[in-house]
Amino acid sequence: MIPFIDLVAQQRRIRPQLEAAFLRILDHGAYIMGPEIYALEAQLSSFCGTSHTLSCSNGTDALALVLMAKNIGPGDAVFVPSFTFAATAEVVAWMGAEVVFVDVLETTFNMDPLSLEKGIQAAKKKGLLPKGVIPVDLFGQPADYDALHAIAEKHNLWIMADAAQSFGGTYKGKKVGALAESTTTSFFPAKPLGCYGDGGAVFTENHDLLKIMESLRIHGQGEDQDKYKNIRVGMNGRMDTIQAAILLEKLTIFPEEILLRQKIADRYSEALQEVAETPFVRDECQSAWAQYTLKVDPLKRKEIMEGLQQEGIPSVIYYPLPLHHQQAYSSYSWATETLPISESLSKTVLSLPLHPYLDPETQDHIIKTFCDVSTRVRAKKVA
Ligand SMILES: Cc1ncc(COP(=O)(O)O)c(C=O)c1O
Repeated sequence: MIPFIDLVAQQRRIRPQLEAAFLRILDHGAYIMGPEIYALEAQLSSFCGTSHTLSCSNGTDALALVLMAKNIGPGDAVFVPSFTFAATAEVVAWMGAEVVFVDVLETTFNMDPLSLEKGIQAAKKKGLLPKGVIPVDLFGQPADYDALHAIAEKHNLWIMADAAQSFGGTYKGKKVGALAESTTTSFFPAKPLGCYGDGGAVFTENHDLLKIMESLRIHGQGEDQDKYKNIRVGMNGRMDTIQAAILLEKLTIFPEEILLRQKIADRYSEALQEVAETPFVRDECQSAWAQYTLKVDPLKRKEIMEGLQQEGIPSVIYYPLPLHHQQAYSSYSWATETLPISESLSKTVLSLPLHPYLDPETQDHIIKTFCDVSTRVRAKKVA
């Protein structure tokens, strides 16, 4: 079976540098908040052109750190797309605030500005206080930030971009990380830039927000960085030094890897457009291609996946159920809302293996098998 994401080839490429980095950490012994943490934060800021980067424990805690810093709580409404990974919504629920689910666009899978506007009106009618929006850059493509900012400004809302899947992407020539007041990302191993465990970061231009998050990240410590003096209720949100060292090495080859991902995505799209609906990326965006996600006939999806599987090709459904239909949110006011695009996408999407080290022969095998299986399955329908 072809691995869905293959991290072995990448590790082989940078193994000597990783080993040298591990030895440096064994020598200096600063396993927590070591020098690699601060070096990584500086490198990430310069990579995406933002003033401040705060590394942290994972992409979920990155989202939570911003919400905590902003004192989000009961009675507040935060707007989240329904077609995303659980983390985007659950952090809002942690704060005791209302998760308001918003639909996405059929083309890009990202937050629909019109549905956001509707959600804001509905939240106000329910007596909630709209506070912020968390657009997700699904599968690697940045959301339409200009359109979303226009709505946010009108209603005096902040935007926190959930860029867990899009770090390395761009929107109108600007890098992800510099597209909103705050941006969060994940360095989970399977992400475009991944470490060898859990990791995450927040990017921001807002110095005050940064200072609060620095404190929250270490149990709400005070200005003198004494974690035994707690000036606010915080958390343990630190990234391990060893993960920062891994990311520093991976960052050196990351721009090239994004180009390699793009090349494979282009090849797939050219070859598969006759048999499936291939991903749509807006002209002003560069996707980080965290996933290559097609749309297929919902009645044939299972058969296509089985056909691929028989030829040793894994495929994955991101996401089989929109969040507003998940049991976890069944008691929320927005659970009964109809969000038709999120609901239909969960029945039609299918992601294929894509990573920078997928060799041309394997790409050919995936393309040929997908075309054969789709044609066979479609022919059956006619018969
Ligand atoms: C859209 C989105 N947000 C947040 C997260 C959470 O990141 P982490 O797994 O690092 O907590 C993920 C991870 O898959 C994600 O895809």
